[in-house]
Amino acid sequence: MESVKPRLTLIAAMDQNHLLANSQGIPWKLPHDAAHFRSYTRGKWLLLGRKTFAEMREWFDAGHTPLVLSSSCGWEPDIGRVIASVSQALAMGKAAEVPEIVCCGGAQTYVAALPFADRMVLTLIEETYSAGRGAVYFPKWNPLEWQMQAESVLPKGDPNEPVARVITLERARK
Ligand SMILES: NC(=O)c1ccc[n+]([C@@H]2O[C@H](COP(=O)([O-])OP(=O)(O)OC[C@H]3O[C@@H](n4cnc5c(N)ncnc54)[C@H](OP(=O)(O)O)[C@@H]3O)[C@@H](O)[C@H]2O)c1
Repeated sequence: MESVKPRLTLIAAMDQNHLLANSQGIPWKLPHDAAHFRSYTRGKWLLLGRKTFAEMREWFDAGHTPLVLSSSCGWEPDIGRVIASVSQALAMGKAAEVPEIVCCGGAQTYVAALPFADRMVLTLIEETYSAGRGAVYFPKWNPLEWQMQAESVLPKGDPNEPVARVITLERARK
């Protein structure tokens, strides 16, 4: 039987303006969102841009398979593989019969991955953070192309934390 293309899921956290990070990095600290991210990505193939991979390098363990999107060939990360396109990631996942690849950003990589995405797991933080030069945003998506499958409010680690909801959207099939 021919193997099936893996599902591509985008996972991200953003503020009310869909800010992902500013020049200082990610401006919030939400332990329950970090736990949710760890839980969703555990043991999976991940797709990351070169910059996000470098930021998260210490975080990976032997259970992760990071695929690092980069236009420069001729280098290999110490964990995972460099890839030149989202299509290449999906073809590799299909050949390995991986059920799901999770795109963990950053902004440029979400832009490249969104047209191929089947699912989005988004943490929506009910707060706005300072942006400024170097701010990066999650790309706009067409709400008509997506159906809400699940929604939950994250517990707060501290009463001063903003409210944050996790929504799961699936691409609507015609
Ligand atoms: N809030 C969140 O959920 C979240 C999640 C992830 C990251 N972030 C934040 O996002 C920021 C990084 O985002 P970013 O957009 O600057 O960088 P990025 O997407 O992590 O990495 C950008 C790099 O990836 C490669 N790349 C991207 N698209 C490509 C394509 N279509 N084809 C080939 N290579 C491609 C290029 O590498 P080369 O230069 O090697 O060609 C590019 O320079 C960080 O501040 C991080 O903290 C936030």
